[in-house]
Amino acid sequence: MKKKILVMPGDGIGPEITREAVKVLEQAAQKFSLDFELVDGELGGAAIDKHGVPLADTTLALAREVDAILLGAVGGPKWDTLDPAIRPERGLLKLRSELGLFGNLRPALLYPQLAEASSLKPEVVSGLDILIVRELTGGIYFGTPRDTVILDNGERMAYDTLPYKESEIRRIAKVGFDMARLRNKKVCSVDKANVLASSRLWREVVNEVAKDYPDVELSHMYVDNAAMQLVMAPKQFDVIVTENMFGDILSDQASMLTGSIGMLPSASLDSNNKGMYEPSHGSAPDIAGQNLANPLATILSVSMMLRYTFNQLAAADAIEQAVSDVLDQGLRTGDIFSEGMRKVGTVEMGDAVVAALAKL
Ligand code: NAI
Ligand code: MG
Repeated sequence: MKKKILVMPGDGIGPEITREAVKVLEQAAQKFSLDFELVDGELGGAAIDKHGVPLADTTLALAREVDAILLGAVGGPKWDTLDPAIRPERGLLKLRSELGLFGNLRPALLYPQLAEASSLKPEVVSGLDILIVRELTGGIYFGTPRDTVILDNGERMAYDTLPYKESEIRRIAKVGFDMARLRNKKVCSVDKANVLASSRLWREVVNEVAKDYPDVELSHMYVDNAAMQLVMAPKQFDVIVTENMFGDILSDQASMLTGSIGMLPSASLDSNNKGMYEPSHGSAPDIAGQNLANPLATILSVSMMLRYTFNQLAAADAIEQAVSDVLDQGLRTGDIFSEGMRKVGTVEMGDAVVAALAKL
């Protein structure tokens, strides 16, 4: 049956990296006889420029109708001065929450070929393979009141609140435990239970969920310690499950263990494994339009799409293999470049993955 994919390139390097990922998707579809229909949509700054809002109702309707979404990245200085309620990022947040994409999977995997690109010693990171499971539709990014600055005794004061419902914690904890079962059966739940009420509830509910997973080892860690442990001894982790903002920060940090944020894909899933797939990084305005961006995070996001939404495991594995093959060939974009390697641009990297995939 024909599956429909909404492609939203977004802003900055978004269109460049998405173009390469679509080439790889098309090659995978051809090779594995998969039938996809791609439709285009705007999100973020691109949507503001075209529709006046970061997510148009027509685009949201389309997003509801399709089987999966491939996204580049949104945002950039052009839109930074806009009112927060209509900034590019708000379109992305709205899409995640309207579609119920609460389960954000961010694998941090060190390709052995990139051991040199990591900022940590090879013995600390070699063989690193961790999965950060970040709650994506709750917490401080969605707390109310929002966008509010008030005057408190003549002084400006702003609010952010960090609410979590038991049901929201339970469903993301389950994702963490389910993922751990497919991996090394270890979950580390990260919170700030020594300070935050929402974190104390988080810990309580995670402990309750753990009773259904006696085969999975559960530990708890405060987020500040987790940040330290991630750079000191990252291989102690298998699955990290955590709330929205902690997951945002820790996954950027984890990206550096793997060499570059340009290598990190992500999946954002609802309870039926419908998903939105995007690189973990942003729109990188500093290198946009210069054929410098690393497209591999977006290409690996396509692999996650084939794995989690379409259950096409052979095709998903093949894309990962093709990425590994181009690294074996010594091809490197600037962000993962090291001495003796061949520096290539966004397009050349995408072409090389397509060629490697065709050859498999
Ligand atoms: P960023 O992730 O865009 O860039 C951080 C640094 O990493 C920059 O030096 C950039 O050049 C580099 N980088 C990122 N992706 C790369 C790639 N594929 N290849 C090579 N180098 C890469 O984060 P930043 O600079 O904080 O934010 C820029 C814009 O992106 C902002 O408007 C921000 O709001 C937005 N943003 C959007 C996200 C999304 O769409 N999901 C996520 C994070 C930020
Ligand atoms: Mg982030």
